[in-house]
Amino acid sequence: MTDNRPTIAIMTSGGDAPGMNAAIQGAYCNASELGYRVLGIRNGFTGLLEGDLFQLQDGDVKNIIQIGGTILGTSRCEEFQKETAQKLAGHGIGVVGIPATIDLDIGCSDYTIGFDTAVNSAMESIDKIRDTSRAHSCCSVIEVMGRHAGYIALWCGIANTAKTILVPEKQEMDSFMEHLKSIQFTDGTVIVAEGCGKAEEIAQKIQESLNIHTRANVLGFLQRGGSPTCKDRLYGCMMGAYAADLIHSGKRCHVVVSQNGEVSHIEITEALSMTKPFPDYLYHLNQVISKCN
Ligand code: F6P
Repeated sequence: MTDNRPTIAIMTSGGDAPGMNAAIQGAYCNASELGYRVLGIRNGFTGLLEGDLFQLQDGDVKNIIQIGGTILGTSRCEEFQKETAQKLAGHGIGVVGIPATIDLDIGCSDYTIGFDTAVNSAMESIDKIRDTSRAHSCCSVIEVMGRHAGYIALWCGIANTAKTILVPEKQEMDSFMEHLKSIQFTDGTVIVAEGCGKAEEIAQKIQESLNIHTRANVLGFLQRGGSPTCKDRLYGCMMGAYAADLIHSGKRCHVVVSQNGEVSHIEITEALSMTKPFPDYLYHLNQVISKCN
């Protein structure tokens, strides 16, 4: 029997983020409710190019909201992603994007799917590392994710009372070392974003320059995996459903965003032109509280 329903296809791309499955569920359920046939594209843009599509069924989205990763699989191709979305829209195919990254570095949205889970996972791990490094009065250098963005390092810097943080947006290695010397650093935690260098090398540098015992820890994938927090489930689901609503209302080339806690949408070209100023107040706050700790 021919299926005459209009079609929506769902794809996840880039680094996976906890809450993507909630977005898939929200988009699928709402689109189905609105009368669409819903396809899934496997492995992001790779699957799109290879035509790796399948029809999603209710069973595919059952029991997925609590699972990290993405049931559709993903691949990285960021430049391609931006251009492709615009080209598809130029061919009359509606494209709606949802901000999903554990890095929080998307200018148009103050929330991105996955950050809440990732930063809480990082915080819990750093607490554990901190317990044992305090017991031994040693310095732990902890590398968190963030190749181009320091939000996980920044938030954990405060939540875990790090002595200092090293983030791609701010500090040069030289001023970072100067700061450690100026506070007469002997022990405690130092959080570095992945994009600033390898924890092992930074720990070595601190050890040699300050003559203190250091230990490097790389949190790695444990930040990006894991069961999403309530916030990432709720916002993921809501943004997925909202994306289906946008397509249904005839919107082409838009991005779902959260601004001041409200979910809304903006045009993709405008969204791509927006940058997110690094929160200097929080950065400064980390330095202030670290002096009393
Ligand atoms: O998904 C974002 C991110 O996790 C960044 O924080 C990190 O720099 C990068 O991806 C690392 O991912 P991969 O090792 O998979 O390239």
